[in-house]
Amino acid sequence: MLDSCTFVIFGATGNLSKNKLLPALFHLDDAERLPDGFAVIGIGRREWDDELWREKVMNDLKQNLKLDTKQARRSFERFAKRLYFINGDLGKQSCYEALNKRVSSETVFSQNLIFYMAIPPAEFSLVSQYLSETGLSHEDPGWRRLVVEKPFGYDLESAQLLDQRLHRCFSEDQVFRIDHYLGKETIQNILVFRFANLLLEPLWNRNYIDHVQIVHAESQGIAGRAEYYDNAGALRDMIQSHLMQMLTLVAMEPPALMDAEALRDEKVKVLRSIRPISQAAVHAHALRAQYASGIVGGERTRGYVEEDGIEPDSTTETFAALKLYIDNWRWRNVPFYLRTGKRMAVNRSMVSVRFKHPPQQLFRETAIEQLSPNWVLLGIQPEDCLRVELQVKETGLEMRTRTMQLDASYDKDGQAPLDAYDALLLDVIDGDHSLFLRYDEVAWAWRVVDPILRLWATERDFIHTYPAGSWGPREANRLFDRDDQRWRNDVSLSKSEGDIC
Ligand code: BG6
Repeated sequence: MLDSCTFVIFGATGNLSKNKLLPALFHLDDAERLPDGFAVIGIGRREWDDELWREKVMNDLKQNLKLDTKQARRSFERFAKRLYFINGDLGKQSCYEALNKRVSSETVFSQNLIFYMAIPPAEFSLVSQYLSETGLSHEDPGWRRLVVEKPFGYDLESAQLLDQRLHRCFSEDQVFRIDHYLGKETIQNILVFRFANLLLEPLWNRNYIDHVQIVHAESQGIAGRAEYYDNAGALRDMIQSHLMQMLTLVAMEPPALMDAEALRDEKVKVLRSIRPISQAAVHAHALRAQYASGIVGGERTRGYVEEDGIEPDSTTETFAALKLYIDNWRWRNVPFYLRTGKRMAVNRSMVSVRFKHPPQQLFRETAIEQLSPNWVLLGIQPEDCLRVELQVKETGLEMRTRTMQLDASYDKDGQAPLDAYDALLLDVIDGDHSLFLRYDEVAWAWRVVDPILRLWATERDFIHTYPAGSWGPREANRLFDRDDQRWRNDVSLSKSEGDIC
């Protein structure tokens, strides 16, 4: 049974709150998963009151969720009653005093408080300091939880500083560092696939696996986030966080228990084993590029430096590819290729595991010229799927083979997939840290990318480009260890290799 609680959103009128948090809370309410006495307090600079915020949230939800049944209308009404608004400036103590006064004087609010930072990272420490100074962070009466969005820091040093500041006001078991990828069902399925199937375990190592690819491609550009993105770039925005998390799940050892600490201990072991990239080796291990104009979905789009809010001489990367090695017994010398980009050919996230060729070419004297290797493909989005590629004999008198796929996809029962935030917010309410990052995970992930970021920061004169709507720059091919390695761009057979890299 969940404790009743009050969910406070700092930055309640922003995009994260509108597009992710409030829809997720609504879903949970609709599914009757919220505890009794659950209330949401939105804090924002707009001069709104409870009624006006309720109206705005309801309009947004109705537009986004497109539900117009009697049952949905009842759910909207019930959810609206949980919403309250405080107008305030996060840079002023009066805002926190108003919050304190309201939660302690109105009986509708539970004294268990969740503070959600849906605000720019630069404000995280200021807000937590005010929460502490006004007594709001003290766990009496009730518990307190603080939810921090990514990016957690800008590099290792700033992450350390931020962590120290948060810990002056909150203890580690009060802090929930979100990486929304961990809330995706398909990402969690990596663990089920690996640890609920004995079949795979003997093969999941350097003796049988040639290399692993982890890709996240997006066809959209920077979508109005110029200020944030131009300071971040693809390596910080996607690789340090989401892709590195996917890597830990693919590579980790089975945890002793499925509890938060055991799971995170194993993930940290993977991150600690990643071979450090020296400054001199950065170009052999990492490649960055920026999208130029091109055609996406049949329409011509602008290049990155022509986007609103981006300086024409910006060398921020919108594409990054990385080769990593994990120096442990299981993975020594198996390359892990990570790749992400904006304005790519399609939206797709997937993990592709390529197996080695059989040790003996038994079919050399036959019509089979070159055997294709086996692949295990985990589609994260848009297809949630799990496929294994095998070689079979083609029908006919000749000894020829073709590749076929065994498909264990699991989105076939017509259920709409849960949004990552639905699961994660429920875990915060429940106090379960398993799907949240511990600080050492964040720090070790920064250690991996820091040397690359440092070198790129000094190389401000040149960046490779790729046409919007492509699979990235050709130069990304140079990361491969061998000529027979290729970027895998699709979970289906017919489109497995893309136009460019
Ligand atoms: C966010 C990044 O963390 O993840 C965005 O800041 C990116 O740039 C997004 O678009 C991708 O998330 P999803 O869930 O759409 O794959």
